[in-house]
Amino acid sequence: MTGLILRAVGVIATVAAIATSVDAGRSQEREDYNSGAYLYRAFCASCHGGDGTGKGPVTETLSRPVPDLTRLTRDAGGVFPRDRVLAILEGTKPIPGHSGSAMPRWSAVFKTLERDPRTAQKRLAALVEHIESLQVPDPR
Ligand code: HEC
Repeated sequence: MTGLILRAVGVIATVAAIATSVDAGRSQEREDYNSGAYLYRAFCASCHGGDGTGKGPVTETLSRPVPDLTRLTRDAGGVFPRDRVLAILEGTKPIPGHSGSAMPRWSAVFKTLERDPRTAQKRLAALVEHIESLQVPDPR
């Protein structure tokens, strides 16, 4: 009897372990569509390149050079210009040295794609954070 119970417990534990590992596998596969990394890949990498250096596959078709987004901290004297980047994505701040912009106003794009405007704002914040993670170290 005890043997049977132990065997039953063993089977349950094995099933539970398999279920957990399958679940873990699934959650790794599941993409977070609001993460900065995903949004960057989906909306920005075509122009700015996967690594942010501005060598995306569609740059050839643009009449303007695409800026290197990995040097924003360096160019700003060592502090990531978070507010400026957010304002550029929101479209409330013109990009230095450019009259019109070749880049879409991303807040308008995300507000069109999402029913909830808070999602658009969250996406912009996640993108700003992702761009910060792409910064090359300041040599000074
Ligand atoms: C169609 C090509 C294109 C796409 C897609 C694109 N950009 Fe841009 N981006 C540009 C160009 C070109 C500029 C330079 C300013 C201009 O001419 O509009 C720019 C400028 C910028 C700047 C300002 C850099 C600086 O010098 O201060 C930021 C920040 C930026 N982009 C972020 C993003 C993010 C985030 C995304 C994705 C949500 C994105 N871009 C998608 C083309 C693009």
